Amino acid sequence: DWTPASFIESTVAMLKEKIGNDKVVLALSGGVDSTVAAVLLNKAIGRNLVCIFVDNGLLRKNEFENVLKNYEHMGLNVLGIDAKDKFYKALAGVTEPEKKRKIIGKGFIEVFDEEARKLKDIKWLAQGTIYPDVIESLSITGMVIKSHHNVGGLPQKMNLKLVEPLRLLFKDEVRRVGRELKITEDLIGRHPFPGPGLGVRILGDITPEKVRVLQEADHIFIQGLIDTGLYKEVWQAGAILLPVQSVGVMGDERTYENAVALRAVLSTDGMTADWAKLPYDFLGKVSNDIINKVRGVNRVVYDISSKPPATIEWE
Ligand code: XMP
Repeated sequence: DWTPASFIESTVAMLKEKIGNDKVVLALSGGVDSTVAAVLLNKAIGRNLVCIFVDNGLLRKNEFENVLKNYEHMGLNVLGIDAKDKFYKALAGVTEPEKKRKIIGKGFIEVFDEEARKLKDIKWLAQGTIYPDVIESLSITGMVIKSHHNVGGLPQKMNLKLVEPLRLLFKDEVRRVGRELKITEDLIGRHPFPGPGLGVRILGDITPEKVRVLQEADHIFIQGLIDTGLYKEVWQAGAILLPVQSVGVMGDERTYENAVALRAVLSTDGMTADWAKLPYDFLGKVSNDIINKVRGVNRVVYDISSKPPATIEWE
């Protein structure tokens, strides 16, 4: 019978056996999967695991600082790398979604590769890949719907062996394992967040200013969900900055500013999803807060599309 405890026991034993005294590098994302993978490895091989956490400039508001602190408290060996400028430079003027994904994915690998090379004697690359990532990345119909950059690994030239302890698990199983490992609810209960981050939630080209605007709007939405207890009722939620300006009125002045879409969905694996029927009062309050507090936004809409035929992300 599968239980989190038996999974942990057998996986830690397997990792010890497989890795021995080798050194392992792992990319932490702040998400549940990579965190659970890191804690499992840490349990198996201790300080021989080195984690790298990259700020690509497309994380949520204060995410880099908060998560880094959290990891350090958990006793993980973490290197935090600020690479914001590199990503903003590479993304300037790029509007096509898959192109943005490729640039962000490539930038990430470059940063990770550069940092991993500075470490000595690394033999393994660990990843928090879970079963749905594996499936969605397989090209069954000969067509890749969206390229998920956390699958596929590091360039061959680094000559690392790959270890993916969560490869056979679904998200709910990963969370159960995480709770059993005593990872805080704060981290375990986190919604999934795409590797390319806010980069696929800013439709059109990305600028640091747009990132700032979206971070503020997203923060109001997410904090509102947390404060009202709705956060754990939904699978995933976030704000999307639309490349649409519309007319508004503020005091007695006419405004012409951006629209933000809010998206919240119910799902069990991300492969299908229903839009979340959030209370009107809640949506009204979040909308008011965003429009009043976030400079550059004068209209908020709520996305009521389900997957399929829509996807969870807008890009
Ligand atoms: P879609 O938009 O395809 O998203 O319905 C399904 C789930 O996958 C996440 N997602 C990504 N995750 N890299 C990732 O690591 C990506 O490029 C990517 N695109 C979408 C999305 O947030 C949702 O949880």
